[in-house]
Amino acid sequence: MTLQNDRLLRALARQPVDRTPVWMMRQAGRYLPEYRATRAEAGSFMDLCRNAEMACEVTLQPLARYPLDAAILFSDILTIPDAMGLGLYFETGEGPKFRHTVRTAAEVAALSAPDAEHDLDYVMNAVRTIRRELNGRVPLIGFSGSPWTLATYMVEGGSSKDFRHIKAMLYGDPQTLHTLLGLLATAVTDYLNAQIRAGAQVVQIFDTWGGALSTPAYEAFSLAYMRRIVGGLIREHDGRRVPVILFTKNGGQWLESIADSGCDAVGLDWTTELGDARRRVGERVALQGNLDPNVLFAPPEKIGTEVKRVLESFGHGPGHVFNLGHGISQFTNPDHVTAFFDALHESSPAYHR
Ligand code: CP3
Repeated sequence: MTLQNDRLLRALARQPVDRTPVWMMRQAGRYLPEYRATRAEAGSFMDLCRNAEMACEVTLQPLARYPLDAAILFSDILTIPDAMGLGLYFETGEGPKFRHTVRTAAEVAALSAPDAEHDLDYVMNAVRTIRRELNGRVPLIGFSGSPWTLATYMVEGGSSKDFRHIKAMLYGDPQTLHTLLGLLATAVTDYLNAQIRAGAQVVQIFDTWGGALSTPAYEAFSLAYMRRIVGGLIREHDGRRVPVILFTKNGGQWLESIADSGCDAVGLDWTTELGDARRRVGERVALQGNLDPNVLFAPPEKIGTEVKRVLESFGHGPGHVFNLGHGISQFTNPDHVTAFFDALHESSPAYHR
């Protein structure tokens, strides 16, 4: 199937483009009134994820509004622990929660990796439906959480500020945590490969909480498992390379080791300066990022200034995928997002001439 817009794939391969490709983390979501309407119709968030037609509809909503260079599968990183029997649910205003936590060696030993094609078939159905409806307009990004990030939710039982249960395990019973992370690495590899076979053309691993670790703990408990996953992924499908993006929030200080993991691109949040990052990685990987999503709360002129600042920081030439440094806030005004795209598409071609 021919791809009408391959800017994202070209930039990830550090090949020349006419303008900087862009997508936004959480581009389908609560800041869009049309998302809130579909979500209300679907019932719960997980009902929406399980309904391929509706998941497809919300995936395409931001593309109808904005000149985006990619779609990202509408799903969640917590589908894997849910499929492991932990019982995921969302309490309004409190974020994700699990009915069962995993805190002891016996609880870890009782777990097994889901069979993605079977236990997560609703995700693969969504991928196939989205690819059909996209009809080659832009590439589709699949995703998963990193083993460490998934484990934080499984051990804590939900979102956490201090990670005290999982860190008690990390320092007090590291072997049990390694067993859990090894199982999750197998599950994530299988899950991403199933998404690639179903039609995902790029995959991103979200290591949202890797930045909560010390340097040696990041290497041993997060990066080592992402490296194992990257090594096990299908890297070519349908005659095209399937690029892998690793995003560790607050991971800027480990950029060189992340770039050496075998990934094609590294996602950065706004706390790392793109130009410095580019000098540090050289030709090894492409870079993705990194506008502070809170810039979108500023007046449109200021949004334009900040977009130009990010472009200027990366500088001329290929290898940049524009993105926010983290997910877009649910309180963002969709018109401010229009201002963001206007500024970006006006300014970025100059960096590719
Ligand atoms: O980027 C996209 O548009 C694709 C969809 C996507 C969602 N979650 C949809 C979603 C993606 C890529 C994710 C990833 C995800 N989920 C991460 C990693 C990315 C990151 O932001 O760091 C994490 C940590 C989660 C776990 C999770 N799921 C949280 C913390 C929440 C918010 C809960 C809340 O009430 O604030 C979710 C739910 C969720 N996932 C929503 C969306 C659009 C909102 C749920 C709703 O509609 O009620």
